[in-house]
Amino acid sequence: MNTATRPGGPTRPDTPGRMTTLAGMTTFARPTTLASLASLARRSTEMPTSPDPGGPESAGVAGIADAVRAELTDVMRFAHVNTFHPNAFDWSEAATPAELEYLSVVAFGEPGHGAKAAAYIAKELAQLAEIERHVSAVMALAMGELHDLPDAVNHGHELHHALSCFAAEEFQHANTFYRYARAVSGIEPRVANGLFEERLAVFRTDDHPYVKLVALCLSAYVGESVITVFEHRTDALDPDRTRFFTRLLHAHGLDEARHVKVDHVAMKLIHPALGESDRERVRALLAEIEDLNRRLAQSFESAVSAALDLDFTTGNPAAETQLAMAKGFGAELFAEDGTLRTVDEILGGDLLDGGLRELVTRFSGTDRIHTTARLTGALR
Ligand SMILES: [Fe+2]
Ligand SMILES: [Fe+2]
Repeated sequence: MNTATRPGGPTRPDTPGRMTTLAGMTTFARPTTLASLASLARRSTEMPTSPDPGGPESAGVAGIADAVRAELTDVMRFAHVNTFHPNAFDWSEAATPAELEYLSVVAFGEPGHGAKAAAYIAKELAQLAEIERHVSAVMALAMGELHDLPDAVNHGHELHHALSCFAAEEFQHANTFYRYARAVSGIEPRVANGLFEERLAVFRTDDHPYVKLVALCLSAYVGESVITVFEHRTDALDPDRTRFFTRLLHAHGLDEARHVKVDHVAMKLIHPALGESDRERVRALLAEIEDLNRRLAQSFESAVSAALDLDFTTGNPAAETQLAMAKGFGAELFAEDGTLRTVDEILGGDLLDGGLRELVTRFSGTDRIHTTARLTGALR
């Protein structure tokens, strides 16, 4: 039995810093907050680091080295416990009639739309799988380039370990989600125009690997946040995790919780340490990859709706919520001064008219995404 995907198995921390170990004992890791990241960064500017950094961003990057390495050590501490392998699922449970009714409730808020819900979820997860595979490839590319660009941040094992695990986990997510998309839709989830070469070419530039890593993390971040909202929704609808889909999103979320923290390191520590022209390059790479990812999404939508002869987006409340979240978070990610905001900063601030916050709360039962979730009531 896969303990990572069953009730009672390893879980994401439900209180800050609380972790379940292999032995089933509960330990407490040092709580990580954005405030603690900022104070670590301040401390590391006061302390000299070694070895001597190289590259155009070296001065800024040296100043954050201790903070980055300490945070990554913390984030990765239980990566061997809070994770999963696709073999451990009972795949015969993935597409039963009861499971399709559950997908209907997840997507449409009521049973009776199983075929459309399965098509919608298969399309979204196949597309996500393709994006995850690309994230793995670009991460490997950036790590290869970092190999002969040693500096105070990538000195030692911390960054190498965090990125290696991130890339390996995304590769297994792609494997898992493609298998799920096949199972639940009954079709081969392939598109004629996957744009893999084009998406890889975006990152085959002379930019410093940190520029590529920040842009890559940002391109993944909104999607990772949106799927976390869906994970909260399934947790609220099915708190005992009796359904395959709930367990699938929960298991994926064990890894994603770390990925999001690595994204936050990229956003809150590495990005501010880049020079102005490098920050402009981050925005340029992000715009290019987002444009290609949008084209990829269109390819998946037409391929799945043609193969199943179904329109699964019209009148689909989950698809509408997903689109509103992706647009709202994407629009507010960069503050006016060019710094980056987390999705919880976006939701908790005065940036929105309240509409998106209310939508997220109604859909997921919580008004927090990556920070400790606060249950706010029944779903609608
Ligand atoms: Fe993933
Ligand atoms: Fe991820």
